[in-house]
Amino acid sequence: MAVELLSRGIELQSLRDGTTVLLETATTEDLDRLLRYFRALPKSERKYLRFDVTRREVVERLIREAVEGKAYRILASVDDEVVGHGALELARDSWQSHIGEIRVIVAPSFRRRGLGALLIKELYRAAEARDVEKVIVRLAGPQVGVRVACERLGFGVEAVLEKHMKDADGEVQDLVVMSYGLDEVSRALREYNMGEHRHALD
Ligand SMILES: CC(C)(COP(=O)(O)OP(=O)(O)OC[C@H]1O[C@@H](n2cnc3c(N)ncnc32)[C@H](O)[C@@H]1OP(=O)(O)O)[C@@H](O)C(=O)NCCC(=O)NCCS
Repeated sequence: MAVELLSRGIELQSLRDGTTVLLETATTEDLDRLLRYFRALPKSERKYLRFDVTRREVVERLIREAVEGKAYRILASVDDEVVGHGALELARDSWQSHIGEIRVIVAPSFRRRGLGALLIKELYRAAEARDVEKVIVRLAGPQVGVRVACERLGFGVEAVLEKHMKDADGEVQDLVVMSYGLDEVSRALREYNMGEHRHALD
């Protein structure tokens, strides 16, 4: 499926329980519903996000950057309400021009149905289309569930930087960097690992 198709929105049939979700690239028209989505996330999770996404101007900036092509941002929605969000951010310096960072959050009530895998798979495709060679995820030490989910989806822990970040409560945390190569071998492994989710996008 071509990445470009996403800009028109695609109906996806199969989360594991048969729920239909629509994937679309984020536009300025999505500001209110994306803000609503972020504000509804548990505070215990939001505190590990890099930015205060409850603030309108922050979400406005994130969408603007996506519209300007500095990032690729997708929304998953059901009945017009956002239930999942994924982003691929491209490094801007030449040292890391081959690196893409992905960030995914699924609404708690939609977890364990395959949506996280679906979003990550789409972000991989977007990364490949942009000649990204290596995809990373950065997360806080206490985000063990996210780490396990990423491992399940093919990422490996590459580094743990001790006391390298502060969460929104001001507590210092380790920063975990996970990575995934986009070479042929990794791709084959990914297709294998995601076999059970494959039908959702085909
Ligand atoms: C991580 C996250 C995106 C996973 O989304 P999801 O829709 O539940 O993921 P999926 O249903 O596609 O699960 C894929 C696999 O990951 C693993 N997994 C998912 N959540 C897990 C958890 N909490 N603990 C352990 N494994 C987990 C499972 O193996 C799962 O496959 P299975 O259900 O077939 O066993 C979601 O839990 C989330 O949004 N967490 C908060 C994210 C966050 O803070 N992001 C910011 C940093 S990027």
